[in-house]
Amino acid sequence: MFGRNGRQACSRGVAVSMTLEKSKSLDFVVDQPLVVRPVNSVYQGSYQTRILSVDAYSLEIEVPREKGKLVLLPVGTLVSVAAEKAPGLDAFEAEVLDRRLTGRPSLTISRPDVIARVSRRETEQRGCRVLAVASGKGGVGKTVFSLNYGLALADLGYRVYLVDSDLGTANLDVLLNLEPRYNLSHVVQGEKGISEIVLQGPAGIHLVPGGSGIKQLADLSEWQFSRLIAAFNELTQQADVLILDTGAGISRNVTNFLAAADEIIVVSTPEPHAVMDAYALLKVLAGEGRHGGIKLVLNRAQDAREGLRVGARIRSVAKRYLGLEVSNLGFILEDGAVTKAVRSKVPLLLAFPNAPSSRCFRRLAAKGQKQAQGAKGRRTSFVDHLRRLFFGPRYRRDDTVGRDR
Ligand SMILES: Nc1ncnc2c1ncn2[C@@H]1O[C@H](COP(=O)(O)OP(=O)(O)OP(=O)(O)O)[C@@H](O)[C@H]1O
Ligand SMILES: [Mg+2]
Repeated sequence: MFGRNGRQACSRGVAVSMTLEKSKSLDFVVDQPLVVRPVNSVYQGSYQTRILSVDAYSLEIEVPREKGKLVLLPVGTLVSVAAEKAPGLDAFEAEVLDRRLTGRPSLTISRPDVIARVSRRETEQRGCRVLAVASGKGGVGKTVFSLNYGLALADLGYRVYLVDSDLGTANLDVLLNLEPRYNLSHVVQGEKGISEIVLQGPAGIHLVPGGSGIKQLADLSEWQFSRLIAAFNELTQQADVLILDTGAGISRNVTNFLAAADEIIVVSTPEPHAVMDAYALLKVLAGEGRHGGIKLVLNRAQDAREGLRVGARIRSVAKRYLGLEVSNLGFILEDGAVTKAVRSKVPLLLAFPNAPSSRCFRRLAAKGQKQAQGAKGRRTSFVDHLRRLFFGPRYRRDDTVGRDR
C-alpha cells in the first residue's frame, strides 16, 4: 500500500519520494517448524516450536518445551524467530501477543511482514474504530505516535483518518508537511463541509485538520456542535480507523472525546513526571467510570527491558489503586530517527522504515489490530456517544453527564 507509485505528492505540489521498503510477503504454513529465542527474558536459549495457525496479523505457535516442561513465555516477551526450511527468510523479531494454556497450549506472536490483507468486504463489515491518543504530560510523543501508528495501520489495509486536535508546535500537518487552509472550525461555522477540509496524506492516510474546532468545543452553540457531530458521522462512514490526536491535559472537552472513543491510547515516557501525569489521567478516566478499552504505550524506552518494566508498573498501579484494567499496547524505542523525521517533515515510517522505532510501530499496529479483533462486539457508535456526552441531559433524561459550557 505504501509508495504504490513510489511517490506521493505533498500539498504544495512538490513531489516527494516516499517509498516504504516493504517486507516481502511471507508464506507461513501450518506445521512449519520455527526456532524461538527469547530476548530480555529469564528464559535463555533457543526453543523448537511449530506453527498452529496463521492470520493476517499474527502466528499462533505451539508453546515450546524444555525437558518436557512448557516454556511459558509471558505476553510482551520479545522473541527472535527463525523459520526452518524457509530459504531466504532470516530471523525476525516478534512479540508474544497472547498466551493460551487451555486446550492446546499456544502462544500468539506478531508476524514480521506487513501486508495489506484486509479485503474491502471485511473492512466494511468492521465499522469504524475510533482511537483517542492522550497523555497527562505534554511532549511525550502523542503526535508522532498518532501519525506513525496510523501509517502502520494503513499499511495493514485500513482506511485511516487522523484528526488533528493539537495546536502545539509539531502538529500532524507540520509532520506531514501539509498546509491546511481550512479546519474543523470552518465546519462548525458552517463555512465548509467536512469533505472540503480533509487532506490526502501519504500512503493513503487522510488528515482532518482540527484547528480551533476541537479546542473551542465548550464555546460552541448547540447548532455548531450539531455540525461537528454530523461531520464526525460522515468521517466514521468513510474510515476504518479514526485517530484523534488530542492535546495534552485533562480538560472536560478532551475527556468527553476520550469517553466517546472506542479505545483510549495513553502515551507516556519512562520519565517520572510523565509517569505521574499518565497515572493522573488514568485516575480521571477511572473517576468518570471508564472501564475497558484503555491501552498504554510507553514511548522513548531506552531498551525493551525498560519499555516492558515501566509499562507493567503503570498498569499494575492502575489496577491496584484505581481498579482500572489497562492493556499493554507496547513500547517504542528512543530513536534519533524520530527527531530526524520530524525535522525533515517526512513521516518516520516512510523516511526510515527500518529504524528500530519504525519496527516498534509496525509491531504495535499488528498487536492493536489483534486486540481489536478480540473486542469486536464491544464497539459502539462514537457519534452517538459524543452526542450523549455533550447533549445528554437535553436529549436523554437518564444521562448524568452534562455538556461543559
Ligand atoms: N521514540 C522517540 N525517540 C526520540 N524522540 C522522540 C520519540 N518520540 C517523540 N520524540 C521527540 O519528542 C518530540 C515531541 O513529540 P510529539 O510532538 O509527538 O509530542 P506530543 O505528545 O504530541 O506533544 P504535545 O503534548 O505538545 O502535543 C518530537 O518532536 C520528537 O523530537
Ligand atoms: Mg502533539
